[in-house]
Amino acid sequence: MNQKLLLGQTLWFDGDPFEQEWENVSHHQTDGAIVIQDGHIIGRGSRSALLEAYPRADITDYGNDLILPGFVDAHVHYPQTAIIASWGKRLIDWLNSYTFPEEMRLSDPSYAADIAVSYLDIALAHGTTTMASYCTSSPTSVTAYFEAAANRGMRVIGGKTCMDRNAPDGLVDTAQRAYDESKALADAWHGNGRAIYAITPRFSPTSTPEQLQALGALWAERPTCLMQTHLSEQREEVAWVKNLFPDARDYLDTYEKYGLLGKRGVYGHSIHLEPREAARLAEVGASVVHCPTSNTFIGSGLFDLMGLAKAKVSIGLATDIGGGSNFSMLRTMAAAYEVAQLRGAVLHPAQLMWLASEGSAQALHLQGIIGHLGIGAEADLCILDLSSTSGIAQRVNNAEDFWENLFPTIMMGDDRAVRDVWIAGDLVG
Ligand code: GUN
Ligand code: ZN
Repeated sequence: MNQKLLLGQTLWFDGDPFEQEWENVSHHQTDGAIVIQDGHIIGRGSRSALLEAYPRADITDYGNDLILPGFVDAHVHYPQTAIIASWGKRLIDWLNSYTFPEEMRLSDPSYAADIAVSYLDIALAHGTTTMASYCTSSPTSVTAYFEAAANRGMRVIGGKTCMDRNAPDGLVDTAQRAYDESKALADAWHGNGRAIYAITPRFSPTSTPEQLQALGALWAERPTCLMQTHLSEQREEVAWVKNLFPDARDYLDTYEKYGLLGKRGVYGHSIHLEPREAARLAEVGASVVHCPTSNTFIGSGLFDLMGLAKAKVSIGLATDIGGGSNFSMLRTMAAAYEVAQLRGAVLHPAQLMWLASEGSAQALHLQGIIGHLGIGAEADLCILDLSSTSGIAQRVNNAEDFWENLFPTIMMGDDRAVRDVWIAGDLVG
C-alpha cells in the first residue's frame, strides 16, 4: 500500500504522432506528478491535485526535471558492449574482425556474467530500462543476461543467437541444437518474472534453411515468444542473401519461407527494402527497428522512417550496440533526427520521444505496459535534467516553449542528463 508521489514536469502520449498531429497526442505538464504503487503507475495529474489526493504518499520532488517512462532500446547486442566503437569496417568485415571473436569469449560463464552486469549498469545509467538484446550462441550468455536483469527487477527481452554457417567453429551450432537450446531457454525464461524470450536467428547468411525451418517450427510451438533477426542492413549483405537463397523472392522471403515472418517478428535495420517487403511487413503487422547510430557508423544507409510509418509498419528505435556507436537513447534520437534530415524529413521532438518509448514498446508488443507514462503501466522511469551541461543550459536559457527546452537535451544530452532511474516503482540506487 506504500504510495510514492513523484513531482516534476511530465510528458506523455495518448496516440501515435506519426499517425496523428503531434500536438493532438502529446501532453506536457509543467507542474506535473505521478503516483506509484506496487510497481505500477496509479495516478497522473497536476502536482496540487495529486498532493491533495495522496496525502500520505512518500514524496520525491524533482522540481523542473522531466519525468518520463524509461527508454526502450528495441535492438541491442549486449555481448558487444566491450567492442563498441571498433574502427574502420563495414558490416561483414566488422562481424568477422571484432564481433565474432568477442562473442566467443562469452562462452565463459564468468565473463558473460561480467559483461551482462556491465552492460545493464551502463544502460540504466543512460535511462534505458528495457531492451531487446541478442545474446551469443552460447546458452550461458542467455542465462547470464536474464539473471543479471532479474537481479535488477528489469523487464527485458533476449534470446540465444543461432548460427549454423558462415561463422567461426566456436560460435556455430546446428539446426537441432539451435532448436533444442532455444526451446529450453524459452521454457526457462519466457514469462519468468519480467523476462520475455525472443527466438533469435542472427540473420539469413548465418543460418542454413534447415536451421531457419527448425526455428520457425519452434516459434509455431511458442507463439507468444517474440522472434528477432536482421533484415536488409547493407547492400553487400542483401546481395549475399540473394546468392545463398536463389529461389527467394527477396530477403524477407528467406524468413517467410521458413515460418519466420509474423506479427511478433522484429526485424532490425530494414533499410534496403523492396516495396513488396515493406508492404508485406505492414500486412502481417510485424515490426522493424531503426538503428541510426549503427547505420551511420558502419555505413549501412539511411532508414526510410517516414515511408515505413506511412506504410503503417510498426517502428522501434534502438542503439544496436556494438554496431551502434552510443549507449544513449538521447544520442540515438539525435541520430534519427539527422538521418531524417538527410532524407528531407523533419522529425518533431515529440516524434523522437515517442519512438524511444511508446514506439519501441509497441514494436515489442509491450504497449501500455512499458514506455508509457499512464495509469496501469509498469513504473520504470527516467528522470531527465534538461540543463545537464553548460552547452545545453545556455541554449535552454533562450528557449521559448517546452519543446525548445527539451530539444537541446535530445541533440546534446547523454548520461549526464539522467538524474534518476526507477525500476518497477523503486529508485535504482
Ligand atoms: N547483422 C548480423 N549480425 C549483426 C550484428 O551483430 N550487428 C549488426 N549491426 N548487424 C548484424
Ligand atoms: Zn543487430
